Amino acid sequence: MSKTILLTGGAGFIGSHTYVELMAAGYEVVIIDDFSNAHRDVPDRLEVITGGKVTCYEGDVLDGSLLDRIFAEHDIAAAVHFAARKAVGESTEIPLEYMQANIAGLYSLLAAMKRAGVFTLVFSSSCTVYGDPDSLPVTEEAPRSFSHPYGFTKLTCEQSLEQIALHDPRWAFGILRYFNPAGAHATGLIGEDPNDIPNNLMPYISKVATGELERLGVFGNDYPTPDGTGVRDYIHVTDLAQGHVLSLKALLDSGDSHTVNLGTGRGYSVLDMLQAYERACGFDLPHEILPRRPGDIAEVYGDPSKAQDVLGFRAQLGLDDMCASSWNWISRRKNT
Ligand code: UD1
Repeated sequence: MSKTILLTGGAGFIGSHTYVELMAAGYEVVIIDDFSNAHRDVPDRLEVITGGKVTCYEGDVLDGSLLDRIFAEHDIAAAVHFAARKAVGESTEIPLEYMQANIAGLYSLLAAMKRAGVFTLVFSSSCTVYGDPDSLPVTEEAPRSFSHPYGFTKLTCEQSLEQIALHDPRWAFGILRYFNPAGAHATGLIGEDPNDIPNNLMPYISKVATGELERLGVFGNDYPTPDGTGVRDYIHVTDLAQGHVLSLKALLDSGDSHTVNLGTGRGYSVLDMLQAYERACGFDLPHEILPRRPGDIAEVYGDPSKAQDVLGFRAQLGLDDMCASSWNWISRRKNT
């Protein structure tokens, strides 16, 4: 049976780490990426890490004829769909573009898969579908909601996949709800390096450490949390990537769909993250307390037990690994 996997958005942050873990697990991998939020040199870097040639098509998943060509040229067994937009604030400015990229992009991929007779997909979802949960740690059964267009797109994609699986038993979906991905590959060759000013905490801290940004703005210290700053469930991107390998394996072995949290089950505050990063880089990082960011919640961390039961997934790497690998990546990258 074919072991070739299509990775949409495979040159991006989580996609590139998943490429490495899939290759290590013995899969062949084909990437499609439009490089709208990925660096051009990622395929070359993946070749250094894996020691093999990377097959990468440049283009958009909305381009059905390109997808048809890829399915015709490769014997693809399943797809992992990362290609999407993910900035909450931006989604409130250009909601239609988010719906086109995230919802229409998924439908375009599913239609091409169906034309090619491929019915197995791992989908990148987010803990954003839980909104502001009533109880913690949040389980997969918690009610879902949205409060911004980005969250709407993730919830709509999840519900679309559920309806398709319910009514067309050929499909098998792995819906993976990511908590907060952090860290970088152990080689320091790939990691997160947004082109613009980062929205997310860890890439922002890393750019304060390199001196590219002056200081971290801590969005609120008056939340009902131990130190007053927001608490999140940070998960090492390599652990997250391995979760995709396990999800694919479960889908291909059993044909049964699953929806699971990918987190560690532990929450850390903004100041915990800052201190851990200071330990990793070896010097103090300037910060200031700013007002709360609109739309932020105080605290969220996931119950990881279903992922362990269904996939055998358990995060292995802790906060210090996340910060040390991030610093290794960003400090090298700045020097190259
Ligand atoms: C954010 C999104 C979430 C999305 C995820 C994708 C919001 C409200 N939520 O998650 O829906 O799935 O990104 O990556 O945008 N922080 C600072 N200073 C900063 C940046 C962040 O103090 O410069 C704080 C935040 O207030 C929060 C924590 O750090 O308490 C984590 O923030 P972030 O990395 O943006 O992730 P989320 O808000 O959890």
